[in-house]
Amino acid sequence: MNIMRVHAKQGRVDTDRTEALVILLCEDDSLATSDGAVLDRALGGALRELQRSREFEGKLHEVMLLHTHGKLPAKRLILAGLGKRPQLGLDQIRQAMGYAVKRVRQAKASSFTVVLPNAVPPGASVSDLSQTLTEGSILGSYQFTTYRSEAPVGKGVAAMTILVSQKNHLSPISEGIRRGIATAEATVFVRDLCNHPSNVMTPTKIASEAKAIAKDTGVNLKILEQKEMERLGMGALLGVAKGSHEPPKFIILQYHGAKKKDDSPVVLVGKTITFDTGGISLKPAENMEQMKADMTGGAEVLATVRAAARLKLPLNLIGILPVAENMPGGRAMRPGDVVTTLSGKTVEVQNTDAEGRLILSDGLAYATRFKPAALIDIATLTGACVVALGQFAIGMFGTDTTLKAAITGAGLRAGERVWEMPLWEEYFEQLRSDVADMRNIGGRGGGMITAALFLSKFVGDYPWVHLDIASTDWSERERAYIPKGPTGIGTRLLIQFLINRSLKPESTEA
Ligand code: BES
Ligand code: MN
Ligand code: ZN
Repeated sequence: MNIMRVHAKQGRVDTDRTEALVILLCEDDSLATSDGAVLDRALGGALRELQRSREFEGKLHEVMLLHTHGKLPAKRLILAGLGKRPQLGLDQIRQAMGYAVKRVRQAKASSFTVVLPNAVPPGASVSDLSQTLTEGSILGSYQFTTYRSEAPVGKGVAAMTILVSQKNHLSPISEGIRRGIATAEATVFVRDLCNHPSNVMTPTKIASEAKAIAKDTGVNLKILEQKEMERLGMGALLGVAKGSHEPPKFIILQYHGAKKKDDSPVVLVGKTITFDTGGISLKPAENMEQMKADMTGGAEVLATVRAAARLKLPLNLIGILPVAENMPGGRAMRPGDVVTTLSGKTVEVQNTDAEGRLILSDGLAYATRFKPAALIDIATLTGACVVALGQFAIGMFGTDTTLKAAITGAGLRAGERVWEMPLWEEYFEQLRSDVADMRNIGGRGGGMITAALFLSKFVGDYPWVHLDIASTDWSERERAYIPKGPTGIGTRLLIQFLINRSLKPESTEA
């Protein structure tokens, strides 16, 4: 998808020549002050009339379009509601922008101007505002049209201008735009990869995406093929890949941005199953097509490494993707098979559908070679996560309080919230095997927890966080800036985490 162009401009609402002028308003925002009054006067009191008749109330998700009939240089005026001012956070602005941009597209306008809102959530800076507007606009207008003869809702919106009144705001606003483009573009990349069907997005295709990123950004790339995996002893990843004709890949991307080349890196590991049939423990047919997105974690790691390199973040970052397709072929693993993982620990595979933790066990064990300052894995790991958390929270587990707090903060700031779950050793009795060091399923209760606890056995003593995104990676319906289908949720959290870690935060969270 072509990414929308975004830039900032100093100017006034009553002189800006644009196809559509977007104004974000809170409930009960008085039109008597500021820009509202100027526009209201130009339109002969139309805005005040709309407010008085309660035709436009400023509720979150409310959008209204007015033609200006030459009374303003702007052809159309679009009002978008932010909801009640005391409840205003950055995500309300992102959502309002998502609805507004859809209205712009519906009006068949190819570019528009949005006025920097004067309602500012507590603790947010002007660059936070422009980052958020940029994200809402790019993410809200996302469409995946690769396999369609005709785009379903018209051409995309090509450009957005953020209109500011104060000249000294231009530079922080441009900085926010730069970050907003980076996070939104990364999310769009993930959505695209997840939307592609698995006959296209094979492990080999994932590897070529990694190659393109390395070429584009100059990050270091290593791809291990099956032979090397065998030599190293990645029995878990190889076991999962055995039922498929698609050869597995093990991808390592290394970005050096820290002043010191040997600074301990942040290491990200992403589950990359290009399709999950369940293997011999075959999944039911219903909704199985959604398992084309079982590579979301890996796509998010690719996108995050690319974004960190483009933003030239001053830190060292390593992205690791164990990549395979989980199929029930003639050479597939059987329930009861025992595999020896890269760590040396043996696992009895009681259920071939619990494949994510298997490939991640080799990914995490490999990650410890880099002595990470922070080790984070992200995975569409368990159906139990969906049951426990529904659609609005990512499951978080971890061994390090500081790291967990940093992830929680980044999630709040990005509007991709995490919820912590317990990683108590008591649950390990559910993972005991009669024949091997452990088994890969934990029986009835606490499925999200036993999966996380399984992973914890492969991370050594490094500060580690596991994110289960099975709850959020796929949306059942279209929302403000989230499409139906693959969401890319987790990407902005990871990038925000890295931004917070590498730059002096100029503001607190929203
Ligand atoms: N990829 C699935 C988890 C999943 C389910 C992601 C629904 C997104 C939506 C994973 O590989 C899986 O199949 N997990 C099993 C584990 C079970 C066999 C212990 C599950 O959750 O059913
Ligand atoms: Mn599975
Ligand atoms: Zn899976």
